[in-house]
Amino acid sequence: MPGDSNAQPTNNGVQKKPFLTDIKIIRDRARQHISDGAVTSGYSADRAKVIELLNTALATEIVCTLRYRYHYYMASGIHAKSVAAEFLEHAQEEQAHADLIAERITQLGGKPNFNPEGLATRSHAEYVEGDSLVQMIEEDLVAERIAIDSYREIAQFIGQDDPTTRRLMEQILAMEEQHAEDLSTMLDDLGKKGEPAAAPLSAKTLGKH
Ligand SMILES: [Fe+2]
Ligand SMILES: [Fe+2]
Repeated sequence: MPGDSNAQPTNNGVQKKPFLTDIKIIRDRARQHISDGAVTSGYSADRAKVIELLNTALATEIVCTLRYRYHYYMASGIHAKSVAAEFLEHAQEEQAHADLIAERITQLGGKPNFNPEGLATRSHAEYVEGDSLVQMIEEDLVAERIAIDSYREIAQFIGQDDPTTRRLMEQILAMEEQHAEDLSTMLDDLGKKGEPAAAPLSAKTLGKH
């Protein structure tokens, strides 16, 4: 019938695949699930699992914020001004990451877990104080490397199912890589890079297979 919106135009007899779901279906779905907020029927990820993963990332960011903040005050106390400034900057950036993750959890209809009970267990990275400036930087570097690996895994797990969350985790991942680079440079500057550290293999060794 002429004017039928469902009819698919043909080109040389080949039936074209509809590019987008009919706009009316999308609008109807949006109205039916209005209480789901930003989550629409087209959302194909396992929402509960994504929220759970985001809560582990949130715990990681909170623990990293606390650890960097502790290191900031300790380094300030031993007059290591430039290192202390770097710790403070990282602490503030980890806090910003925590806020972005908490915001995304609420967009997905979940609850950001800020409960101090079990925080260290939920976090992938650890809270290690360190006894010297070098130890503090090394512990921060270890924590960043843990965050880098776990965020990469989260992004890969989400894949194409939730592009917004994946992009958020990739954006944070890029900043953690920058943090790790900053810390590595700080160790270099302190002349400690290359001395025996806790990890048996350096990133460079691992990268060469
Ligand atoms: Fe972070
Ligand atoms: Fe970081």
